[in-house]
Amino acid sequence: MTSQPGSTHSDRPTTGPRVAIVTGGSRGIGRQVARQLAADGFAVVVGYAGSKEAAEDVVRDIVTAGGTALPARADVADESDVSALFELAESTYGGVDAVVNAAGRMALSPIADLDLDELDAVHRTNIRGTFVVDREAARRLRPGGALVNFSTSVLGLSFPGYGAYAASKGAVEALTLILARELRGRDITVNAVAPGPTATDLFLDGKDEETVARLAAQPPLERLGTPQDIASVVAFLVGPTGHWVNGQVLRANGGIV
Ligand SMILES: NC(=O)c1ccc[n+]([C@@H]2O[C@H](COP(=O)([O-])OP(=O)(O)OC[C@H]3O[C@@H](n4cnc5c(N)ncnc54)[C@H](OP(=O)(O)O)[C@@H]3O)[C@@H](O)[C@H]2O)c1
Repeated sequence: MTSQPGSTHSDRPTTGPRVAIVTGGSRGIGRQVARQLAADGFAVVVGYAGSKEAAEDVVRDIVTAGGTALPARADVADESDVSALFELAESTYGGVDAVVNAAGRMALSPIADLDLDELDAVHRTNIRGTFVVDREAARRLRPGGALVNFSTSVLGLSFPGYGAYAASKGAVEALTLILARELRGRDITVNAVAPGPTATDLFLDGKDEETVARLAAQPPLERLGTPQDIASVVAFLVGPTGHWVNGQVLRANGGIV
């Protein structure tokens, strides 16, 4: 099926389920995105790197709730793994309509003290991983499809300690905006969601209660984000009502500045 000028989201394939791949689907935000998209009717491939049991639990929850899903291990920075992930989605469910790249890694350290191995590990997952997944998505997403990457509100906030992580997410935003333009004519949207502090392991690990409370108090809404807050934004972007949003970074953060 080719996309014509003036085509709409209804041009997407009508046979079979809509299909989503969620990387980082085993934990945190990605886990909730997987559950939400399954509840919205997507068949979901739940990607994980090391947390096999957690990914299987997510799939079990989805299937118990009447949805369709399967777990798949893939290191997002490994091109063979990612290619196999997409092939699995296509061979099992018939194609790929949404790719949510929620896999991510954080390092928290002043720049002066940062271990360069940690810098490389963060950039391998966040930059190379986003690039590899986006490249495969660009090749394989069906018309009417949507790709969502993950940045962070820290990029705009410039909090001390987040140098390596924020630098990696700057790259994610650049890739997102360029790919949105490269996919002209394909009827595919490419956006990034930039959460503020969200209650997951990535945010909570290594922070004392006082630090968590201080960060939670910063947004005008005066709380941490939840994985569901972010999953709702992703569901909008990949769903039929969000398709006019393209080439944007959505800062979903309770209004933190
Ligand atoms: N939480 C926040 O406050 C916050 C704020 C702004 C942005 N974000 C972004 O939101 C996204 C999700 O974060 P989160 O808070 O949900 O993190 P999380 O709870 O730490 O979960 C991270 C997920 O990424 C997966 N992952 C890590 N490295 C991977 C790799 N090389 N290949 C494949 N999967 C990999 C993990 O899989 P395994 O467990 O299977 O290894 C896990 O499912 C990230 O991109 C993060 O940077 C989070």
